[in-house]
Amino acid sequence: MKINSLTRLYCLIGNPISKSLSPSIHNYLFDKEKENAVYMAFNIEKKDLENTINGFKAINVKGFNVTIPYKIDIINFLDQLSYESELIGAVNTVKIDNGKLVGYNTDGLGFLKTLEERNISLKGKNVLILGAGGAAQSISLTVANEGVKSLTILNRTVSKSKKLVEKIKNRFPEIESSYGSLNEKYIDLKKFDILINCTSIGMYPEVDKMPIEINRFNKNVIVYDIIYKPLETKLIKSAKKEGMIAIGGLDMLIYQALLSDEIWLGRKLDIEKTKNILKRRILLENVEDI
Ligand code: ATR
Repeated sequence: MKINSLTRLYCLIGNPISKSLSPSIHNYLFDKEKENAVYMAFNIEKKDLENTINGFKAINVKGFNVTIPYKIDIINFLDQLSYESELIGAVNTVKIDNGKLVGYNTDGLGFLKTLEERNISLKGKNVLILGAGGAAQSISLTVANEGVKSLTILNRTVSKSKKLVEKIKNRFPEIESSYGSLNEKYIDLKKFDILINCTSIGMYPEVDKMPIEINRFNKNVIVYDIIYKPLETKLIKSAKKEGMIAIGGLDMLIYQALLSDEIWLGRKLDIEKTKNILKRRILLENVEDI
């Protein structure tokens, strides 16, 4: 990598960011595309958020990613929001254009891309989402926007699943949406076509945990776990054992990053091919790091 006076800077802000794969993904892409650009991650405190944004503007940073816990707070500092970021109510990508800050959200689009490449359509489907935090909000609104038949959200804290379902009902009254408790033992799970885990149950280091029993579902259910650490959660392993289609979180993680690059660079990239290369690299080289 050659850094000179014309090198453009892209950043990540969040807290914590020490385990982030984003720098490896974006710097690989910039190198491959022969872009004179670098990507750096910054761990920042909430009190410094505004100063950081002003600093980015002052030194002509071209764009940045925003991760936990600033995806909502960042909206206060932006001039414009994309359709997806307005729909989801959170921003993970910002482009700075002549001092104007435009917010985007590539989390949902990254998720959709992983379904598209497997020829899975959400239209008319009965979808079950586990969790009601930030990730569940991105995924549920994205899924609702795809014209599903029904959407059920189960969460440990029922008041949060209720609030999320109210938001969905407001925006998408035509979808049969309902909520409940993650501990609910009596819901018939056989009707669901797709299960999406958006809780952190099963995430490293608690790899022996599972958010729900897989044998309560129909054999044709598609099981999606957005966790990528470990690469195969217990939920994904159990689904595979049952012969179900099972999708882990790594593809979505890489796609959301590459979709940010398309926004920043203002052109289409071969993101399918690049995703597969990056996935192989991460699987081979970085397993212990993620
Ligand atoms: P993220 O941005 O990854 O969505 P989050 O907003 O903190 O992170 O949400 C974490 C989700 O995992 C929530 O749905 C949380 O349930 P609560 O709303 O009840 O907190 C869920 N979660 C985390 N740990 C859990 C556990 N041990 N049992 C059940 N649910 C859990």
